[in-house]
Amino acid sequence: MSAAARILRGRILSFTDDPAVSGSRAYSLIEDGAVLVAAGMIEAVGEARDILSRAPRGALIDDHLGSFIMPGLIDAHVHYPQTQVIGSYGKQLLDWLRNYTFVEEQKFADPAHCARVAAFFLEELFRSGTTTAMVYCTVHPGSVDAFFAAAEERGARMIAGKVMMDRDAPEALMDTAERGYDESKALIERWRGRGRLGYAITPRFAVTSTPAQLEAAGALAREFPECYVQTHANENKAEIARVAALYPEAESYVDVYARAGLLGRRSVLGHCIHLQDSEVAALAASGAVAAFCPTSNLFLGSGLFDQARLTQAGVRIALATDVGGGTSYSMLRTAAEGYKVLQLNGQSWPALEAFYRMTLGNARALSLDDRIGSIEAGKEADLIALDPRATPSLAHRMEMARDNPEVELFALLTLGDDRAVRQTYVAGEPRKGKG
Ligand code: GUN
Ligand code: ZN
Repeated sequence: MSAAARILRGRILSFTDDPAVSGSRAYSLIEDGAVLVAAGMIEAVGEARDILSRAPRGALIDDHLGSFIMPGLIDAHVHYPQTQVIGSYGKQLLDWLRNYTFVEEQKFADPAHCARVAAFFLEELFRSGTTTAMVYCTVHPGSVDAFFAAAEERGARMIAGKVMMDRDAPEALMDTAERGYDESKALIERWRGRGRLGYAITPRFAVTSTPAQLEAAGALAREFPECYVQTHANENKAEIARVAALYPEAESYVDVYARAGLLGRRSVLGHCIHLQDSEVAALAASGAVAAFCPTSNLFLGSGLFDQARLTQAGVRIALATDVGGGTSYSMLRTAAEGYKVLQLNGQSWPALEAFYRMTLGNARALSLDDRIGSIEAGKEADLIALDPRATPSLAHRMEMARDNPEVELFALLTLGDDRAVRQTYVAGEPRKGKG
């Protein structure tokens, strides 16, 4: 963490609520604004002239004039061991896992490989403007140690956990119900409460865990209520049929997790596409979060997420890349594909709601909104500067935006990617290009 205070000057955009609920009261935009950060925290935000007039002596000034300064983006579901699985051709979920992912994940038995990929992954997130993510490691405890060590070294707020799998996977990628429990517990005890890190109990999905392993994961969730739970649900029709065959006593896929005690406000379930009404109701009642992973759902041909149905039922929603089923580290690309998925479902998604979701919305989904997700004094200084004219095509499009921020933000989302990210600040430190 840097000792020197720093002032970021630009167009400060931050949310206090969901624009779908509170309309224009949900956000503020200060056209010539500034954020004062020191010791990793936001100390003040306001009009640039006010912040500059009371700047501490020696404060660094980063001028991002014309760029939006926003909270760092948050990715609610992503697999760091899949950086070399992205763009693997031609398969849907179960074959894609078997042919590509389970082959790749075996390499994480090697701690040096874990360290190299963890560093690459975090740098790629920062390049894309993502400062916090909820991350799957592999079954190997060393993959978790390497990831948390890399995140800690960079001062980043990250949530991660060891994958638990005790059936229907290659021998080298399986633990047992007992070993999954013991290894997860040891990792929780090693890493919990350390700096900005959080642990997610991670039974991969009901296909690769026996009932005994899901019970063990549920026991961990009860023992360590501060931990998260992450898993996958209702992504693909063949997967759902397999879960029904493996768990004949359960009423539904979501019910498998409910029975194991895995549904609660700190649970994030990837995908949630093909849901029965009773499953939607169970998600809503438990406060569990459904993670919308549009690039993955399109790439693996999984289906179309029904945001309107889930929102109306009161299900909490997050947005996520799901790399490497997902095809981009960029939350901008992810939201742009999310918009298209919703269009195919007869729904729409205003830019302000999408930017809310990538920032405060996802912070709320991960119960981190007291620390990150908005630009306020006392919050952690994870910030990005996004240039709406970063590429020739963006600059050309912005000529027609008539200085209307909603038009600008929608075009930025549609055309933007890592090139639009001028800088990413993690705990107040510029991180883009540091790797
Ligand atoms: N379901 C179980 N594991 C995975 C995974 O790694 N990626 C995706 N997209 N779905 C899964
Ligand atoms: Zn996933």
